[in-house]
Amino acid sequence: MRLKDKVAIVTGAAQGNGKAIAVAYAREGASVVIADLKAEKAEQTAAEIVASGGRAIAVSVDVSKRDQVEQMVSRTMAEYGQIDVLMNNAGIVQSHRFLEYPEDEFDRILDINLKSVFLCSQAAARHMTERGGSIISITSLQAERGLPRLAGYCAAKAGIAQLTKVMAIDLGRYKIRVNCIGPGSMITEMSVPFRSSEKISSQILQRIPLGRMAQPEELAGAAIYLACEESSFVTGTTIFVDGGYLCW
Ligand SMILES: NC(=O)c1ccc[n+]([C@@H]2O[C@H](COP(=O)([O-])OP(=O)(O)OC[C@H]3O[C@@H](n4cnc5c(N)ncnc54)[C@H](O)[C@@H]3O)[C@@H](O)[C@H]2O)c1
Repeated sequence: MRLKDKVAIVTGAAQGNGKAIAVAYAREGASVVIADLKAEKAEQTAAEIVASGGRAIAVSVDVSKRDQVEQMVSRTMAEYGQIDVLMNNAGIVQSHRFLEYPEDEFDRILDINLKSVFLCSQAAARHMTERGGSIISITSLQAERGLPRLAGYCAAKAGIAQLTKVMAIDLGRYKIRVNCIGPGSMITEMSVPFRSSEKISSQILQRIPLGRMAQPEELAGAAIYLACEESSFVTGTTIFVDGGYLCW
């Protein structure tokens, strides 16, 4: 119960990586806010946590919209009275050849993947200044490595890593720690287009020393570590959970 009496907001927690992290946080004793655009799925995830003895509520939010982010934080405060952990996990991927990349799509992916981290972190951190807290954001291997046709995604993920360092500097005085987790290839809905191509799948697998993709539950260890006191002197960094991909 490493997160006993803690309150954690997990964005994009209706499914995939966010759901696995939210379930793990609840198992460690946290009250969890399942914050997602997909309201019905978020309710289902919260209900599953409650059914297995945990504490959770669902909040419908578009993390790229300031007013909705503020409502998510107000709802959390009204329900649980504090925020100890913010997990910025919500994200999308989109693929376009660079020369044809539409400007509105570029804006959209930066808003959802990067600006959301600024909005959610600022709104949550304002409630962490008295007691401290932990902000964690999900980046990707693409914070470090380029991939064809993923200009917006790669730029957003690299931006999160740098934003994290600045937040770690600015918020350290309040005992707010700010870190990232960089997953490798995860078996979720997001990676279906990549996994369904045999050519891309085998290219990815060749680069992973452990020789396989990961289940979302395999992010839980890093997510719990960065959220709890075991990482009390860790801030401004990224833990990659990538099967060794970045060794190349
Ligand atoms: N799947 C992978 O291989 C992989 C690898 C590295 C990093 N990641 C990152 O992990 C995170 C989770 O992705 P996933 O693989 O679980 O994908 P997923 O598509 O299964 O889940 C993403 C969740 O985010 C939610 N979401 C999307 N836009 C939102 C918005 N504007 N507001 C609120 N919620 C929104 C979706 O509704 C969904 O529930 C993302 O940040 C992604 O970039 C995934």
